[in-house]
Amino acid sequence: MGGVCGERLRKAAARTLGPMSIHEADKASTSGSLTTHSSGKPRILTGDTPTNTGLHLGHYVGSLENRLALQDQYDCYFLIANVHAFTTLAEKPEQIRANTIGIVKDWLAVGLDPERATFVLQSEIPAIAELTFFFAMLIPFNKVMRNPTLKTEIETKGLGETYPFGFPMYAVGQCADILAFRPDLVPVGEDQEAHIEMCRDVALKFNQLYCGVNNRTPPERHHLEGGVFPIPRAKIGRVARLVGIDGTNKMSKSLNNAIFLYDSAKDVQKKINKITTGRQSPTEPGDINNILMQYVDAFIASTDPARAAEIKRRYGAGDNLGDGHVKQELGEAINALIEPMRLRREKLETPAGEAMVLDVIARGVKKANVVAEETLALAKKAMRVEFAGRVVG
Ligand code: TRP
Repeated sequence: MGGVCGERLRKAAARTLGPMSIHEADKASTSGSLTTHSSGKPRILTGDTPTNTGLHLGHYVGSLENRLALQDQYDCYFLIANVHAFTTLAEKPEQIRANTIGIVKDWLAVGLDPERATFVLQSEIPAIAELTFFFAMLIPFNKVMRNPTLKTEIETKGLGETYPFGFPMYAVGQCADILAFRPDLVPVGEDQEAHIEMCRDVALKFNQLYCGVNNRTPPERHHLEGGVFPIPRAKIGRVARLVGIDGTNKMSKSLNNAIFLYDSAKDVQKKINKITTGRQSPTEPGDINNILMQYVDAFIASTDPARAAEIKRRYGAGDNLGDGHVKQELGEAINALIEPMRLRREKLETPAGEAMVLDVIARGVKKANVVAEETLALAKKAMRVEFAGRVVG
């Protein structure tokens, strides 16, 4: 790996690449280089905001599943964005606190493992706040305000004109959440893509401005040519956007169309039964792209692709397969997936469970601050703001 600003390898291929989309970058970097850290593994950072309690199936197929699959191969950092929760819930600190603990319980119940991954509590990582301020200088104000993810949130959460300055600021903060850990990969749902794109822009600009990386250097070579920041890529889940049970765009707690990972088996089946397709009888040829079939793809195809294909063939052909039967099978598949999580979650609802969560947070903060402080020192050195260091007292 190249050193920070100085021992740059100037012999870089002078290949000019235009601005790349995340997906193009994804392809490009399979031939490129992942950053190897002292753990010997490339890094992941991703996270959740504790504005709600309870993760749902959309979270699972969008990001959690990737986190579970990658937690061995990667050095993983999972962030609880409790500072960002204040952007919409500033007057409810108790709720944010409870949700923060709830998110950690959710993660543990799903199978994220604090022995293998580092759980990061955002409010205890000062380097994130410091980097946020510096990064805010590298993003045009209007670009933040045009960020489509922020715009959608303003609409769906009904924030109107009254949101605080800190609300759009969180998009800059998210760049710092990510870059503080210099990860290669950020597993997220599709709705977060705009934020990751902004984060990539910040990292590119930082490396070019302060580390002398050539503006023709392709993103996947930035860290090899002296950039402090590897340019991270989004990793979108198997199902990019899971529709809600009402068939609207996205599963979401605020739209009241979600199946939660900790719903009872009965509630899961009840919610599945509410799905409407407009199909009248088992012999009517059904639409194999309707919401019910999308769920079959998401939750039956993953464990039993042959059965999913059979269901879709018979459904499409009107070969005597009723919606009711499919819903029953789907409910069973979803319950088989989430039952172990539900049981583990119940066990955490005890004083011992609570103590365990606090311990996991404390250990994570300690590990995370080592990495984030290292990043901050590298960034300050590159920005020529390293002086006597932080002298206290
Ligand atoms: N904004 C993300 C969400 O609402 C949560 C988040 C905060 C995050 N910081 C992050 C996700 C950094 C990925 C990387 O889901």
